[in-house]
Formats: sequence, C-alpha cells, structure tokens
Amino acid sequence: MSVVPLSGIGKITVPEILSRKSFSAGGSRHTNPNITCLTAYDHPTARLVDEAGVDVVLVGDSVGMAVLGYDSTLPVTIEDMLHHIRAVRRGVKRALLVADMPYGSFHVSIEDSVRNAVRLVKEGGAEAVKLEGGERRIELIARLVEAEIPVMGHVGLTPQSIHAMGGFHVQGKSIEASRQIERDARAAESAGAFSIVLESIPRELAAQITEKLHIPTIGIGAGPDCDGQVLVLHDLLGLTAGRVPKFARRYADFSGIISQAVTAYCDDVRSGKFRTDAESYHAPGAFHAESPARTRR
Ligand code: KIV
Repeated sequence: MSVVPLSGIGKITVPEILSRKSFSAGGSRHTNPNITCLTAYDHPTARLVDEAGVDVVLVGDSVGMAVLGYDSTLPVTIEDMLHHIRAVRRGVKRALLVADMPYGSFHVSIEDSVRNAVRLVKEGGAEAVKLEGGERRIELIARLVEAEIPVMGHVGLTPQSIHAMGGFHVQGKSIEASRQIERDARAAESAGAFSIVLESIPRELAAQITEKLHIPTIGIGAGPDCDGQVLVLHDLLGLTAGRVPKFARRYADFSGIISQAVTAYCDDVRSGKFRTDAESYHAPGAFHAESPARTRR
C-alpha cells in the first residue's frame, strides 16, 4: 500500500478531487490521502476552515438545522442558500466550494433545476453543486454536467427524504435496500457526478460501493473505507444542541466555551469590573477641566 503525500497542492479543483480516488492496480491498493470536507455557513468559519487546509467546503442545507433553528432541512430555500454561499465564498480561497441544492430547488422540472443550480454558481460563486438522490436524478445530473456544473451526488440517508424515510435512520440494512443504494450510487456516477456522499449506511456497504465506483466516495456515518469524510462543522465544534449521531466526533466544546465567556461578561458588567479606564477613550485635557464627570476606575 502506498500513500501519496499532500504537499504542494494549491487550489483544490474538481480534477484534483477525482485524482484522490483510491484505486487497485496489479493487485496492490493505492491509497491517496483521504479527502477532507466540512460544512461552513458564514464568512469567519469559512475562512478558518479554508486556512486550516480542508479540501472541500460544503455549504450544506444542514444550515437549516445547524444555524437557522429548523427541525429539518426542508424549509431551506434557494435564497437562504445564496445568502450563506456568498458569505462563505468571500472566506474560501483554496478549498473547492460546493453548494447544496435545497429541497424544492430541483424537484419541479429539469429547466427549473438547472436555472437554480446556475444561480448557485453565478450569484453564489459555488464551484460545484450537491444534490440528493440517485437513479431518480440521472437526467438532472447529466443536464447539469452538460451545463458545465460539476455535481456531487448524495445517497443513503438523504435528509430531504425524511418524511418518506420516517426519520433520520441508518439506511441500507436489508439486502434489497443496500442494492438500491448501490444502484443509486452507480446511477449518479454514470450520469457524470464527480464524487458522491454516502450518508449513514453500513460500513460494509460503503466499502463495497467505494471499491466499485471510479469516483471518490465521501462518507458521513459510512465507516472508514470511503475515499473521504464530511462532517457538519457545528457537530465537530460541539455547537450542536441535543443529541448528535455517533459518527459525529466532537473535537471541541464551543458551547461550553461560549457559555463561560458570556457568563463571565455578564458578571463583570453587573459587578462593574468591565469596563475600566484602560478600555476607555479620553477627551483632551481641557475637556476635564470644564466638565468634572463621574469617573470609574
Ligand atoms: O447538508 C449537509 O451538510 C450535508 C452533509 C452532511 C453531507 O448534506
């Protein structure tokens, strides 16, 4: 097994992501560095995530749950997405910027869907779009590729299908369901997708799909054998309220840090410890002489 080093890689492009596919040749498996992907929804986090060297920044429709306070991703609109993508665009210099197509933006007609995807690229600055679904989306994926828009597929648990699926459950546990997910992944690939998200499926199924496809698989709750990994930034940072899925490894406790900082601020303001003279501006000397104002420390 050989590992290709990451050094010297500049701007991440679609061909660069394609080149990261792990492959088997002459009996030996070549493992490229795993593709790293994280969500971002605003300018400061986009800049930090990009500067930390992540390969793909995804403005996911998870913005609806992570930031906008919805129970699902369904209410997110194309205008919501554009608002967040523009902010992220201004912060991302190196990573590939992928925008999610929200629910309703690609379900009415092919023309309407292509128009919406073009908006994400033209008005938002996205370099690729992601959309949920496999076999059902073959024609749309092909049309988007024809319109010069690279497409990232997304199969397995597709949160926009929450009502049909009956909740956020692991998918592909039965033989028939796993075959359908594999067919969906193959369909996205054959329609021209350059990569595909595999969400919440058994690792054995993810490994099998990763082995069979020629495009990189990017897992979330799909085990260690995919070609890359995506997480919701708010899960990773410990900013998500309530239960998070077991695959969402938490690398920091920003909820705790923010609570502590805000509590300390309130305590200091109430007790008069904040603000001090050192944190104040001063008027010229003559001003003091004329108006002896009430002063604190
Ligand atoms: O919306 C999103 O953030 C996603 C990822 C979790 C893959 O679809």
